[in-house]
Amino acid sequence: MAKEIHLAVIGHGFMGHEHEKMLSDFPGIQLIGFSDRDPKQLEDVREGLKRYADNEALFADPDVDTVLIAANNNQHHDLVIQAASAHKHVICEKPVAMSLDELDDMEKACRENGVTFTVHQQRRFDPDYRTAKAVYDSGTLGDVYAIKNQLYGFNGNMHDWHVLVKEGGGMLYDWGVHLLDQVCYMFPGAKLKSVFADIRNVINKEVDDYFQIMLRFDNGVTATVELGTYYLSDKTHDKWFERHWFVAGNKGTAYVDGFFPEGKIVRTTHLLTNVGGQRTMTAAGPTRSFGPAPEGTIVTEPLPQVHTEHRNYFEHYIKFRNGEEEQFVKIEECRRVLRLMDAVRESGRTGKSIDFEA
Ligand SMILES: NC(=O)c1ccc[n+]([C@@H]2O[C@H](COP(=O)([O-])OP(=O)(O)OC[C@H]3O[C@@H](n4cnc5c(N)ncnc54)[C@H](O)[C@@H]3O)[C@@H](O)[C@H]2O)c1
Repeated sequence: MAKEIHLAVIGHGFMGHEHEKMLSDFPGIQLIGFSDRDPKQLEDVREGLKRYADNEALFADPDVDTVLIAANNNQHHDLVIQAASAHKHVICEKPVAMSLDELDDMEKACRENGVTFTVHQQRRFDPDYRTAKAVYDSGTLGDVYAIKNQLYGFNGNMHDWHVLVKEGGGMLYDWGVHLLDQVCYMFPGAKLKSVFADIRNVINKEVDDYFQIMLRFDNGVTATVELGTYYLSDKTHDKWFERHWFVAGNKGTAYVDGFFPEGKIVRTTHLLTNVGGQRTMTAAGPTRSFGPAPEGTIVTEPLPQVHTEHRNYFEHYIKFRNGEEEQFVKIEECRRVLRLMDAVRESGRTGKSIDFEA
C-alpha cells in the first residue's frame, strides 16, 4: 500500500503560504507544520498544523519524514544539509543552490544520509509552457529553428530580499532558473552548444533585473529567453505582465500568449520555398521581402489543449517516493541549469559567446 508522506515546511513566507494552500488537503501527503526564523510569520499558520519553535524542533520531530525548504535562496545550502543529517527526505525550492559547490555539498549530504533530494521546479507544469512543448513535440511545425520564451513585468516590481545579492536576489535566480529549466526540459536529449547573454541592472544597484539569453542547441533550435522587470506601462494596460512563447519551424509558427495561453498555429500546406518576391507597401516605403503567401497555402489552427497544473508536481513526487516512477526533477538537471547560469553570467560579463556542451 502507498505510504503517506509526512511533510513539514521551513519558511512561511510567500511560497510557504502557497505550499500550505496546496498541501493542506492533498491525497498522499500529510502536511505536519511550519518553522520560520521570524516567529511573526507563523501567526497565521492554519489550525491543526504545528508551529515549530525553531528548525531544530522540526528536524527532531519523528512525525516528519520529509522537509520542504521554502526559505531565502542563501539559506538553502545549510538547511538542506541539516535536513539530510536529520535523515529527512528533502524537497528544496528553486534555485536549489547559489553555486555548483553548494549543490555538491547538498547532494553529498543527502547521499550519505540515504535520503532523496529534489527541487520544486513546478513551472514545468505551467499551461503556457506545456502548450509550447506540445506543439514542439507534435512535429507539426516541421524543423523548428527558433523558440522565444519571454516574460515582461512592468514598472520595476522587485521586492524584499530579491534586491539583495547576499540573500540570493536578482531575476536570474528568481525567474531565470524557471525559464532556463523550461527550455532545457523541452528537449532534454539535445546538447546545448553555446550561450550568449546580455544581463543588466536597469534600476537595481545590486542585482540583475533584465536579461536576454541566446541558447544554441545541437538539434538546430536557437532559444531566446528574455525577461524584463522594467518595461513601463500606463494604467490603460490591464495586465502587469506579458508572457509569450513563439515557436518557429520551416512548416509553421506557433504563437502562445499568456500564462493561460491564447494563440494559434499558422502552418503551410507545403514548404514555402522560392516564393516569388511581391511588391508590398509598408509605411516605410515599398519592399519585396515581406508579403502575403501564395493563395491557399496558409492554414490557421487552434493551439492544442493541455491539461496541466502545479499540483501535478506533487502527484509525481508521491509516485516517485512510492517507487512507481523515477524522480521527476533530477539533481543533474538542476546542476546543468546552475552551470548554464554561470555561463550566462560569464557571457554577460565578457560580452562573448560561451561554449557549453561540446
Ligand atoms: N517555485 C516557485 O515558483 C517559487 C516562487 C516564489 C519563491 N520561490 C522560492 O521560495 C523561496 C522563498 O521565497 P519567498 O518568495 O517565499 O520568500 P519570503 O521572503 O516571502 O519567505 C521566506 C521565509 O523564509 C523564512 N526564513 C529565511 N531563512 C530561514 C531560516 N534559516 N530558517 C527558517 N526560516 C527562514 C523567512 O523568515 C520568510 O518568512 C525562495 O527560494 C524562492 O526562490 C519559488
